[in-house]
Amino acid sequence: MSQERLTTLLTEQRSYLPPQHGKSSAWVCGSEEAEALYRAALDDPNDFWAARASQLLHWFKRWDKVLEADEERHKYRWFTGAKLNASFNCIDRHLFSGRRNKAALIWQGEKEMDVRCFTYQMLYTEVCRVAHALSSLRIRKGDRVALYMPMIPELVIAMLACARIGAIHTTIFSGYAEGGVRSRIQGAKAKVVITADAAVRAGKLKPLKANLDPILEKCPSVAHVVVVNHADLYDVKMTPNRDIWWHDLIEDFTLDVDFPCESMDANDPLFLLHTSGSTGKPTGIMHSTGGYLTYAAHTTQWIFDMRDDDVHWCTADIGWITGHTYGVYGPLALGATTMMFEGVPNWPKPDRYWRMVEKFRVNILYTAPTVIRSLMRMGEAWTERYDLGTLRILGSVGEPMNPEAWHWYHRNIGGSELPIVDTWWQTETGGAMISPFPYATKLKPGSVTKPLPGVDAAVLRDGQTPDMDTSEGRRSGHLVIRKPWPGMMLGVYNDEEKYQSYFQRFGCYESGDGAEVDEDGYFWILGRIDDSINVSGHRLSTAEIEAVLASCPEVAEAAVVPMPHPLKGEGIYAYVVTRDEVPWSEDVRKKLRDTVRRDIGALASPEYIQFAEALPKTCSGKVIRRMLRKIAGGTYDDLGDTTALAKPEVLKPIIFGHQNLMLGQHETASAAAEEHGQEKDSTAEKQD
Ligand code: WT7
Repeated sequence: MSQERLTTLLTEQRSYLPPQHGKSSAWVCGSEEAEALYRAALDDPNDFWAARASQLLHWFKRWDKVLEADEERHKYRWFTGAKLNASFNCIDRHLFSGRRNKAALIWQGEKEMDVRCFTYQMLYTEVCRVAHALSSLRIRKGDRVALYMPMIPELVIAMLACARIGAIHTTIFSGYAEGGVRSRIQGAKAKVVITADAAVRAGKLKPLKANLDPILEKCPSVAHVVVVNHADLYDVKMTPNRDIWWHDLIEDFTLDVDFPCESMDANDPLFLLHTSGSTGKPTGIMHSTGGYLTYAAHTTQWIFDMRDDDVHWCTADIGWITGHTYGVYGPLALGATTMMFEGVPNWPKPDRYWRMVEKFRVNILYTAPTVIRSLMRMGEAWTERYDLGTLRILGSVGEPMNPEAWHWYHRNIGGSELPIVDTWWQTETGGAMISPFPYATKLKPGSVTKPLPGVDAAVLRDGQTPDMDTSEGRRSGHLVIRKPWPGMMLGVYNDEEKYQSYFQRFGCYESGDGAEVDEDGYFWILGRIDDSINVSGHRLSTAEIEAVLASCPEVAEAAVVPMPHPLKGEGIYAYVVTRDEVPWSEDVRKKLRDTVRRDIGALASPEYIQFAEALPKTCSGKVIRRMLRKIAGGTYDDLGDTTALAKPEVLKPIIFGHQNLMLGQHETASAAAEEHGQEKDSTAEKQD
């Protein structure tokens, strides 16, 4: 994090009291009630979670034990012996609670006139049909189904159909390209892939099925591909006996056909979701049925103060955990109405979000700082022309919210009144961990406030904790969670070693983030301290990008680090040592960028590629990224202990190269144009 950003964060002094209006009917009403909940969870966590699990979900069979903990192996199993089904909880039970004709899902396509709405009854029918269809493809309990789909209702239907059968879904963000998709399908050993002919993004079609075909040659586990006709792409190639159109597949299943829910063990996996780890290989985070769903419903209800007539809009793409928990499972488990949007915030004009808020009378808006920053840049005129008066709660997730963006969001979207719930969490945690209650917590812009009841978050240090600039009166260190919670990941798919690595350093769950705690016990997230980069709220692994760069024949060696970026929070900065005979040219830069784009996706394409003669290394040959990070951020002195360098003389040319690249950026029109194109591209990706 840049010194400048840190200073603005830490000198931010203003605080905001929760609104009085609407408080009396809130789920967590006022600070005293919140205090009582924190205490209750502390006094008897098992009792607290058991009460929430019974209040929020329908269990076919109650648990024998609330928590079975194997402290040595860090295995925590919630609600053991209990039986339930996520699809039943998200649909069936609402049919008998007066919500049969309530909108479960409202979908807005990219085109203004494209709107689809599913009541709970309609969702039930479609989910049952698809469950039958998957079953006819021999998908059974425990099988993996990969969902490489755009933001369309069929994605939600497919997830719930998998849950109904007991199959484990694994969504793959539709912005991923070849390598990203392949490693995820292979990692999950998926039997079926569900996709669409194309995704629609900012007025353009992005073929998905055609993208998938070459990948499937290297995925022997896949027996069938189901293709949704979403964009009427006419030249989709269908491989006989393997590929089937979604509409053909479900046609045989009549509309009144029920598909009974599989009775799942609370600790049967509900889904797998890959995130970027410290290695080049994506990590398959596995979530449980009982614990995860309890935690999703619990946090959705309290953090968003979800009421029966609310329209809830989580703008995240369902390819990420945020979309799973707060776009699908949390709201549907509560019988709420959830919005889904196919398009991007700034296309055709930067008013798309505000237009939708007015059009659907949205009450809760949950988005990411990067979206706010990009819309903020477009000016207030876009927000002023819409009636945003139905909004009650604003939310933020994915990266630290800089006070400037916070105030803009608060003033222009929240009419200087609405609470902003800035929620800290991760793919691994299943749901929000540190977050305010909208009607109970005093807000400090830039802070995620306090750990939720039952969440034992702390900042710890060890001998190797890297320098973290700390102002007086605050503690900083590694953000850890010391006690288990129901949303905690079940494990890492087929990688026990990776799972154990989360517990290695401190003996409890280590998040990989740095944080500070201030004198009021408020948490301030400083960002990742492992080798991840947070681009527009998406976690990318430096190792994965380095591996792709190194796979290019031009490259001898590459090191990738984050750099501060005004819109995306962090950008990607790559240092590349080319092979001897390769010239340092724009052509090579372009080729490297294209390769990353093609292999991982536009999201991972480096902002800057700096050619270097050599990288700073320790005597044992390890690249010292800490220094490269500082240089990428424009800090040239204060590079830390340089005595560890095997060849201290490599630093000067690297600094010189960075200065040149920054100068060149202003001078070379063509390079600037390219950057701009890239930025536009990733703006389209980033609302997720
Ligand atoms: C990383 C997790 C689950 C959210 C979507 C991303 C960063 C998340 C915040 C926040 C500051 C945040 C952290 C975290 N992060 N929320 N409110 N303030 N940083 O999920 O891909 O698993 O990434 O996102 O660095 O470790 P993810």
